[in-house]
Amino acid sequence: MRLPSSLVRLLRRLGWYHPLHDWRRDRRFRRRRAAEVAQWRRAGCPSPPPDAIKYDCIRHYARTHGTPVLVETGTWFGDAIFTLRGEFRAIHSIELAPALHAQAREALAHLPHIHLHLGDSAAELTRLAPTLAGPTLYWLDGHWCDGPSARGTKDTPIMEELSFLLDRPVGQDVVLVDDARFFTGEHGYPTVDALRRLVAAKRPAASFELQDDIIRIVPV
Ligand SMILES: C[S@@+](CC[C@H](N)C(=O)[O-])C[C@H]1O[C@@H](n2cnc3c(N)ncnc32)[C@H](O)[C@@H]1O
Repeated sequence: MRLPSSLVRLLRRLGWYHPLHDWRRDRRFRRRRAAEVAQWRRAGCPSPPPDAIKYDCIRHYARTHGTPVLVETGTWFGDAIFTLRGEFRAIHSIELAPALHAQAREALAHLPHIHLHLGDSAAELTRLAPTLAGPTLYWLDGHWCDGPSARGTKDTPIMEELSFLLDRPVGQDVVLVDDARFFTGEHGYPTVDALRRLVAAKRPAASFELQDDIIRIVPV
C-alpha cells in the first residue's frame, strides 16, 4: 500500500520515513518467506530452495567463519542485502543493469554501510576485492536471468570471478556460488565438476561442497 505523499513528507521531516519503510519491507518479506518455506517443506524440500533458505545459508557461513564483509554479485532488487543488512559491518553489491542499480540505490541510500557498484562483476570484483579489510564472504549470484536482468558478454562471469578470487593470496574468505543447478556445461555455464577441478587446482586445502543449490568453498 502506498502512503499519501503528504504523509511521506511529514514522515521524512520527522526522520521516521526510512525506519517505517524498512519495517514494512521486513514484515512483507517475513510473511512471504514463511509461506514459501512452509510450502517448500511440504513439497519435500526440492531444489532450488526458496530465497529464505539461501539467505539463512549466507547468515550461517558469516557467523561460523566470522566474515564482517559481504560482497554480492548481482544486486537485482537488493532483497538479499536488505535482508542481511544487520549481519555485516560492510556490504558491497555489484549490478550490471543500470535501472536495477539505480532502484536499489534509491531504496538503500539511507544505509551507509551498503555500497552499490554499477558494472560487470568480473571487472568490478578485481577493483573492489583489494580494497576490503577483513575476512569477506563472496555471494556470487550475478548472471543473466528472466525479467529486467542485464546480460554481460556471457550469461555468467563465474569462471572469471572465481579464478580471480582463487589467484589471490590465501586468506580467510568464504565463497558461496548460487544457482548450482545451472552449472550443466550449457548456455555458457561451466559444469560443477569444472568448478571443483578449478578449486582443487588452485586451492587444494579448500573444501568444496554443494547443498541446497549453493556451492560452498572455504576458506579462500
Ligand atoms: C539472480 S539475480 C540476483 C539476485 C540477488 N543476488 C538476490 O539474492 O536478491 C542476478 C542479477 O545479476 C545481474 N547480472 C547479470 N550479469 C551480470 C554481470 N556480468 N555483472 C553483474 N551483475 C550481473 C542481473 O542483472 C541480475 O540483477
